[in-house]
Amino acid sequence: MTTQFLGTPLKNIMVLASGILGNSGDILKRVHKNGCGLVTMKSIGPEPRDGHKNPTVIDLGHGMINAVGLPSPGYLDMEAEWEALGSRDFPVIASIYGGSVKEYRDVARYVSAKKPDFIEINISCPNSEKHGMIFGVSPQSSHEVVAAVKAVIDVPLIAKLTPQAPDIAQIARSCEDAGADAICAVNTVGPGMVIDIESQKPVLAFKKGGMSGPVIKPIAVRCVYDIFEAVGIPIIGLGGITTGEDAVEMVMAGAHLVGIGSAVKYRGIDVFAKVTAEMDAWLDAHDTTLEEIRGAAHE
Ligand SMILES: Cc1cc2nc3c(=O)[nH]c(=O)nc-3n(C[C@H](O)[C@H](O)[C@H](O)COP(=O)(O)O)c2cc1C
Repeated sequence: MTTQFLGTPLKNIMVLASGILGNSGDILKRVHKNGCGLVTMKSIGPEPRDGHKNPTVIDLGHGMINAVGLPSPGYLDMEAEWEALGSRDFPVIASIYGGSVKEYRDVARYVSAKKPDFIEINISCPNSEKHGMIFGVSPQSSHEVVAAVKAVIDVPLIAKLTPQAPDIAQIARSCEDAGADAICAVNTVGPGMVIDIESQKPVLAFKKGGMSGPVIKPIAVRCVYDIFEAVGIPIIGLGGITTGEDAVEMVMAGAHLVGIGSAVKYRGIDVFAKVTAEMDAWLDAHDTTLEEIRGAAHE
């Protein structure tokens, strides 16, 4: 079922979440071939970062906890990736992060010149100038960073929000006011911790990490529901989506597109085609369409 997102035609409403499969052009192409309408690159930062020590990701069965630490070659050292993506025949979201408004702006300006279809700003990372406070928990900081990035890019801007915000609808509204074209919600929930009771130590080398997968779905659905009531721009609903019925639920909360991250691990790289087929089967069985059910939970 084809759709339009901010003027770009997509083969379906499925989105690969940032950070799940890296930035290699070949892998992103494979994801698109395997039924994903729109693929998001791993977040690109201002400087090379190694990320945290292993173990960085733990599968809890009902979800995952990760502390990968935004490993990135830095925006100036990605020529091979950009070259591979330059001749692509599928749409891409480039995700960026920074530690200050200036860093977001510098990375955004450079990345925009590489002509991704969209730029997503990850304002959910704790690596900021504000003593570890994340941009996405304050309406003022969110507004400032969105406005600064919007002024230097010439592709649509998506603001990716954190469920940690005390009032995520207020953050979404301030991003919209500052010029965001769409919202992506949500990033991971946390921090959480898992302790190995035999060694009596936290399992993650970084000790604490962000939660994702089925365990966070009710939080993600609530966030999208709240944002839908607050803004007029489209929403990418993300967090715990694993089946076609999960995707239907997210659309009923108000999502225009539906993102998948952890479920790539649970169901394989063709999870996008599987979820689309399940969603279509549900729509057929209920004699309805995506347009009819979008935001239906609000009526
Ligand atoms: C291993 C891992 C790495 C991630 N890296 C990023 C990242 O670089 N940038 C970002 O915005 N989100 C990142 N995320 C968050 C996901 O994009 C997504 O928002 C989150 O996992 C919730 O979706 P899910 O429940 O479908 O996994 C990462 C998540 C995981 C599990």
